Amino acid sequence: EKGGYEHFMLKEIYEQPNVIKDTYRGRLSSTTGIIKMAGIEDNIEKFLQADRILIVACGTSWHAGLVAEYIIEEFTRIPVEVEYASEFRYRNPIVNQKDVVIAISQSGETADTLAAIKLAKEKGAFVFGVCNVVGSSISRETHAGAYTHAGPEIGVASTKAFTTQITVLTLIALRLAKAKGTLSKSDFFRYLNELELIPDKVQEALQTNDEVEKIAKIIKDTNNSLYLGRGYNFPVALEGALKLKEISYIHAEGYPAAEMKHGPIALIDEHMPVIVIAPKQGHYDKVVSNIQEIKSRSGKIIAVVTKGDTQVKALADHVIEIPETSDALSPLLTTIPLQLLSYHIAVLRGCNVDQPRNLAKSVTVE
Ligand code: F6R
Repeated sequence: EKGGYEHFMLKEIYEQPNVIKDTYRGRLSSTTGIIKMAGIEDNIEKFLQADRILIVACGTSWHAGLVAEYIIEEFTRIPVEVEYASEFRYRNPIVNQKDVVIAISQSGETADTLAAIKLAKEKGAFVFGVCNVVGSSISRETHAGAYTHAGPEIGVASTKAFTTQITVLTLIALRLAKAKGTLSKSDFFRYLNELELIPDKVQEALQTNDEVEKIAKIIKDTNNSLYLGRGYNFPVALEGALKLKEISYIHAEGYPAAEMKHGPIALIDEHMPVIVIAPKQGHYDKVVSNIQEIKSRSGKIIAVVTKGDTQVKALADHVIEIPETSDALSPLLTTIPLQLLSYHIAVLRGCNVDQPRNLAKSVTVE
């Protein structure tokens, strides 16, 4: 059942090239520019007339929501807000008929997300679900939706659900951008083509596994760690930190790289591994300055960089090279070595990777 892998988590990490493809296959044609998802087509006016899009989710799905915020705003210029479902449901949020709410959930059973959906519906919003489990409570409770095609996710730590959620949300952003004319034709087609190249590039990113395992051996005994990224990769930093803490029980914090100087920099010394996401596309020069700040305080730098990078390589203690893609799609690649890193560290520490202590696969109680 684990297909020769030692754990479900590793199997699911390695399934990502296929499930990302399964998620966009039949929904997108990069030659004609057609993007087809019934849940979107049937309700496109609701999206186009929305004053804003509100995203509600928990945990890793909330991180996918943050990536989607950056993508949807950039591609469509529709304002997006992302909220923890547990906060949203109890704070008497301002929601009305002109809002579109997107609920993201792998299991489709998360109690807080379900409650947030019910509240948004009561207030008259149109609620759209992005779920993985077909027929789940959230998929039934929402007005419409688009499934991720990740297949069953057994490992408690969410991996392939995250990347397929980002894939669906990217398709939605592209479809809306096409309708609104907010992306130039060339950018629109460039993104479609790049999306189709992602599965092969994820495959390539998976080949960092041996290198990542070596790094895991070096840092496995740390008690603390910091994950930094900017822009599209800030949520990836949060997700990398969540993966590490939940399965290896190492304290990890994710931060926008520039926020480091507003406090966390005080934590940095020669014992602190700092995992920096520094792809070439994006705010590269800014991230390089952040890396210099860490280095001058003797932090141990592990950087995820674009293949062929030289500048970060000269500064970092370890680099993990991934293929190049555009800034907006980079989370689909940068997240891969971070999943592998948390996996190997957890295995080396003798943790129960697939069923970490105190956690359940679907959180049906608040
Ligand atoms: C992290 C993890 C959790 C879930 C969260 C939401 O690896 O698995 O943080 O992401 O409980 O679950 P879903 O997506 O099922 O609503």
